[in-house]
Amino acid sequence: MDETAPIRDFEKLLRETIGLSMETVGASVIRHALKRRMTACAISDLHAYWAFVTSDTAERQELVDAVIVPETWFFRDREAFGAMIRHLRENRAGNRPLKLLSLPCSTGEEPYSIAMALLDASFPNGSFQIDAVDVSSRNLVHAERAIYGKNSFRGADIAFRDRYFEAAEGGFRPHDSVRRHVRFRLGNVLAAATPIGQEAYDVAFCRNLLIYFDRETQGAALIRLRQMLADDGLLLVGPAESGLPVLCGFASVRFPRAFAFVKAAAARVKPAEPPVARKPRPAPVKAAPLPQAPKPTPRPFAQKATPTPPSAPPPDRAAASLAGIERAADAGRLTEVSAAAERHIAEFGPSPDAFYWLGLAHDAADAVEDAMRNYRKALYLAPDHQRALAQLRLLQQRQGDHGAAKALADRLDRLAKRSGT
Ligand SMILES: C[S@@+](CC[C@H](N)C(=O)[O-])C[C@H]1O[C@@H](n2cnc3c(N)ncnc32)[C@H](O)[C@@H]1O
Repeated sequence: MDETAPIRDFEKLLRETIGLSMETVGASVIRHALKRRMTACAISDLHAYWAFVTSDTAERQELVDAVIVPETWFFRDREAFGAMIRHLRENRAGNRPLKLLSLPCSTGEEPYSIAMALLDASFPNGSFQIDAVDVSSRNLVHAERAIYGKNSFRGADIAFRDRYFEAAEGGFRPHDSVRRHVRFRLGNVLAAATPIGQEAYDVAFCRNLLIYFDRETQGAALIRLRQMLADDGLLLVGPAESGLPVLCGFASVRFPRAFAFVKAAAARVKPAEPPVARKPRPAPVKAAPLPQAPKPTPRPFAQKATPTPPSAPPPDRAAASLAGIERAADAGRLTEVSAAAERHIAEFGPSPDAFYWLGLAHDAADAVEDAMRNYRKALYLAPDHQRALAQLRLLQQRQGDHGAAKALADRLDRLAKRSGT
C-alpha cells in the first residue's frame, strides 16, 4: 500500500487544524500518533482511518491529543512571572479585576503559576481572572483534575508547593484559593471562534507554541494575540520564540530573560525600559518573595535539557538503546548510528535524542537538508536540546545563514545563563 499520499493528507489536516508545521515536527511524529490512534480504534488500514478521522469530530480531537507536545511545569522560565508582576504594578489603573490569558495552558501548570505569583505579590483574592486555553481536551481534563506529580515540580526552588498545595492521591493539588482564579477552556489560537473573554487581556502568556508553527502561522497567531491584548497589555513568549513578536507589531520590553513584549504603538507612547526607571511606586504591602527571583537562586530549569515526557516509553530499554547509539557515534560508526536511531524511533516513538543522533549522522555524511530537518525535529520535541541547538547553529553558519546562526547562539547563551553553566 502506498502510505505516502495519506500521510500527506494527515499532515495537511493537522497543519490546517492546529497549525503544526511538518518541517519542524517531521513525519515520524505523525506516524507515531497515527499508530497509537489506529491501534486504539482497532483500524489497521490508513485509508480507513482517514475516512474515520475526517468524518468523526471526536476522533479528530483524539488525533490532535496524540500529536501535541504537552511538556510544561510550574514556574517554567520564572523570570516571565516576575516581569508580569512588575508590568502590572506599573500599569494598573483603577480597581477593575485584571484579565490574564494562558494560551496554550497545556495541563495547567502555567496558569496556576500565574495565580500563585499574583497571590505572592499581594494581589488580593478575586482581583484577577485567568483564562487558560488549550487545543488538547486531554490536557484540559488533567488541568481541571489538578493533581501534579514530581515532573511538574522541577528545580530546587519548589517552596511554593508548601504554600499553595495539599497532598492528594497521586501527587499534589493546588489549594482552592489558587484554582478558583483559573477558568479552563478548549480553544485554538488560530480559530477566530475561540470562545475567549470579550474584554482585552492585561497580560497574555503564549509560550512554547509558536515554535511548532511555520512562519505564516506564527504571524496569524501573533495577530490574534494582538487583537486579544489591551493597548498597554504585556505579551510573554518562550525563549525560543523571542525573535518573532517584533516582526508582528510588538516591541520588546527589556525585562531580563522574560521575553516580554508590548504593542509597538504602546511602546512609542511609553518608552520600553525597565519599569523601575519610570515613575517610582510605593512598595507592595508585603514583600513578594517568589516571582521576581533576581538572585542566582536555583532555577526549575537547571536540569538536563531533555526531560522525559510523562508518556515516555519504559526508560530502561529506551535509555539503553540511546546509550548504544551514543557509543556507536563516539566510535565514529555513523551508518550504525543512523540505522539504530531509525530503529529507536520505530520502536519507542519520536525522541529528541534519537533525532539528534540522526541529524549528526546526516551531518557527517554532508546531507545538509536531512541533518537540519532532524535537528529541528529534536528541537520540536525538546526546545532546549543544547546539542541539537549547537549543531544546527554550526550547520547554519557553514551554510552562510549568519542571522539564523546568531539567533541560535543567543538561545544557547540564554540556556547557559539559566542553567548557570
Ligand atoms: C509545550 S506546551 C506549552 C505549555 C505552556 N505554555 C508552557 O510553556 O509550559 C504546548 C501546548 O500547545 C497546545 N497547542 C498546540 N497547538 C495549539 C493551538 N493551535 N491552539 C492552542 N493550543 C495549542 C498543545 O496542546 C500543548 O498543550
